Amino acid sequence: MTAHQPLLEVKDLVIEYGHGEHAFRAVDGVSFSVDRGETLAVVGESGCGKSTIAKALVRLLKPTAGQILLDGTDLAPMSQGQLRPLRSKIQMVFQDPYGSLDPHMTAQEIVAEPVALRGTRSKSEQRKVAAALIDRVGLPATALERKPPEFSGGQRQRIGIARALASNPELLVCDEATSALDVSVQAQVLELLSELQAETGLTYVFITHNLGVVRAISKRTLVMRSGRIVEQGYTEELLARPREEYTRRLRRSALEPSMMSGIKPRDLVRAIAASRTAEKESV
Ligand SMILES: Nc1ncnc2c1ncn2[C@@H]1O[C@H](COP(=O)(O)OP(=O)(O)OP(=O)(O)O)[C@@H](O)[C@H]1O
Ligand SMILES: [Mg+2]
Repeated sequence: MTAHQPLLEVKDLVIEYGHGEHAFRAVDGVSFSVDRGETLAVVGESGCGKSTIAKALVRLLKPTAGQILLDGTDLAPMSQGQLRPLRSKIQMVFQDPYGSLDPHMTAQEIVAEPVALRGTRSKSEQRKVAAALIDRVGLPATALERKPPEFSGGQRQRIGIARALASNPELLVCDEATSALDVSVQAQVLELLSELQAETGLTYVFITHNLGVVRAISKRTLVMRSGRIVEQGYTEELLARPREEYTRRLRRSALEPSMMSGIKPRDLVRAIAASRTAEKESV
């Protein structure tokens, strides 16, 4: 038996923008861990440092200090060269994949690119894997030859997810991945993510503004304010005994406990709509 080791362990993470006396500390000593197959929700008001953490996890940013241990290996101090073989393990799904999807490439090419990088040699094999992924995320075969501008927001998000999956990641960092979508489309994408997790044991760090989604998707939640973690724990316990005003708002707008097990799209649609109303009322 090996000792229990979380898939991701972040220790005393500090991230500053700028240098010297102009440095701004966006993340200030954050520590958390995520087990394999688990979803950790990260919530907190705008500007508290959520996206900064997400960017550090995929190493779009280099931390000022602290550790990012993936399976025990610290990614924080690594050079781009050292990171290359590890990059596929952590993938990111962005809020608007439109910006991150090349508008001139077909969906099949977009998804096949990471498959090729993984070392799958023949073009026809790459196309086959891409087609299977596009099917898996619920898009029709006719999507293969179409380009991003021809898709709806929800469809583009599915392509973004298929592309992320093409690297065969262990951890998916979703930064407001469903926030720009209509409520019903949002529910469908969340359902897809939860199905994928059940099938493959994927691990998620799920950053969201939508307080209603938190309870449905994650057993554990981390609440941030001004670059620090102000509360962290089991979502249910956190919502039952919120210490922070933000968490209290989270509780007021969160889903009913009866909807905890399995996401039923229709229920989720209703819940997200209700949470939006509650959010507006509590501001
Ligand atoms: N490139 C940058 N240079 C300087 N400051 C930045 C940069 N990016 C973000 N910041 C600042 O760092 C802080 C954290 O930003 P971040 O984008 O991580 O917040 P967030 O929690 O993701 O907010 P939101 O919910 O609005 O997306 C903010 O004060 C922001 O203004
Ligand atoms: Mg953000």
